[in-house]
Amino acid sequence: MTKAKNTTQNVLPDNTSDNFAIDWFRAASPYINAHRGKTLVLALPGEWLRSDLLPTLTHDLTLLSHLGLRLVVCFGLRAQVEEELARDNKSSEIVAGRRVTDAHALRTIVEAAGTTRTKLESCLSMGLPNTPMAGARLSVSSGNYVTAQPFGVHNGLDFQHTGSIREVHATAITALLDAGHVVLLPPLGHSVTGDVFNVTANELASACAIALKADKLVFLVNELPMSSPQEVLRQASASRLEELMATSVRNDATHANNASNNELESIVPQAIEAVRQGVERVHLLLNEDRNALLCEMFTRDGSGTLITANQWEHIRAATINDVGGIIELIEPLQANGTLVSRSREQLELDIEKFVVSERDGTVVACAAMYPDDQTGEVEIACIATHPAYRGMGRGDELLTHLENTATKQGFTMARLQSTRTGHWFVERGYVESALESLPASRQSSYNSQRNSKIYQKTLRK
Ligand SMILES: CC(C)(COP(=O)(O)OP(=O)(O)OC[C@H]1O[C@@H](n2cnc3c(N)ncnc32)[C@H](O)[C@@H]1OP(=O)(O)O)[C@@H](O)C(=O)NCCC(=O)NCCS
Repeated sequence: MTKAKNTTQNVLPDNTSDNFAIDWFRAASPYINAHRGKTLVLALPGEWLRSDLLPTLTHDLTLLSHLGLRLVVCFGLRAQVEEELARDNKSSEIVAGRRVTDAHALRTIVEAAGTTRTKLESCLSMGLPNTPMAGARLSVSSGNYVTAQPFGVHNGLDFQHTGSIREVHATAITALLDAGHVVLLPPLGHSVTGDVFNVTANELASACAIALKADKLVFLVNELPMSSPQEVLRQASASRLEELMATSVRNDATHANNASNNELESIVPQAIEAVRQGVERVHLLLNEDRNALLCEMFTRDGSGTLITANQWEHIRAATINDVGGIIELIEPLQANGTLVSRSREQLELDIEKFVVSERDGTVVACAAMYPDDQTGEVEIACIATHPAYRGMGRGDELLTHLENTATKQGFTMARLQSTRTGHWFVERGYVESALESLPASRQSSYNSQRNSKIYQKTLRK
């Protein structure tokens, strides 16, 4: 009896940090599922490859690969090349983020590419018993998968062996990813004339993500963009980020750190180009944060800046001018009993509770949120997408937008009532609850003839 008790204790010790890890693992499981089979392209700056964080990052990449992510790593070499050139008493100019690559610099880059690739391959091969990926086996591949052409002469300056990307051989890379390989790409491109060109790792990562139709493109950066001098930009559409960069609102409020600013200025256009060309999500992560990649992948809020093509772009607070559009949208749903009926007057009174998703000046989806300061809860209501625009994620965006707004305002619970759409909410984390769980005021106004089911979701910061 005593023995059995001890065995149980050994298996599941009552230890706070273990319990925390188990809870974290449970919370991460939906993301593990969602990422399986997805393609991630990572732009890895050269200085990272020399930092103490490299073993952590390579363990994380091995873990992601074993969780089913398809990984392409585009590595840079700037720090290595600068060091080698200095050792040879040479230097080469960098103009607008691009090296002017003479023959000596190209030789140095080609050598550094070989050395660095070998170093990365060996880090990704680690599987010693005392490492996080004990026993893991990973196949890593590299090759001539990028065609480049001369970048040419700009403002009279000949960039010599610097190239721009002409083509990424997506079919060949896809075949390797299908076979479970991690693909490593140095910042080099080959030409049909047999020449080698130096390309930038960021440009390569962006081109590669576009060619592969990657689900994610990740850049490691020294600073994140700021939405105001005090606040890091956590999520933005490509257009919003473009606006912000144009007005130069950055993390460094004093704008003294030119190196960092230049880095963002060269990465952000690549990020914007990628989302505009169909890459679903681009993430900017702080390169000094050893947990940034896993945090971004497996937690709801992530750790960096997420850039998407149009998320939030068309979501805005409703105004009185939207009443007509909202009525047009919800009238058929009120008529068939899916939504509770609201008169125009009621809608006008409640209009500031609504958000709308707009396309070309037309309201194509709407939702409302009624906050209750006394209970710390919000009620979600009247969520609807025009039939022609369903299944494109608009409902999801609206609901997430309302939940994020509620969380930011300190509300801890979202509730709603639904007659027919319960499963849609359950798939988004809501659980059915009893009438008694409603605040007293809502219980007394509950329409028992309508017999809606009640759903709730705990909102977490
Ligand atoms: C529910 C609704 C708002 C979703 O809008 P949307 O913009 O299509 O939302 P999304 O694109 O984010 O989600 C679409 C997914 O939800 C699924 N879905 C739609 N209605 C559903 C329902 N009643 N139950 C379960 N899943 C449902 C779709 O099949 C689709 O699934 P898929 O992604 O696997 O193809 C929209 O279907 C609608 O307007 N319904 C009528 C109004 C309504 O019921 N409102 C809720 C009142 S409580």
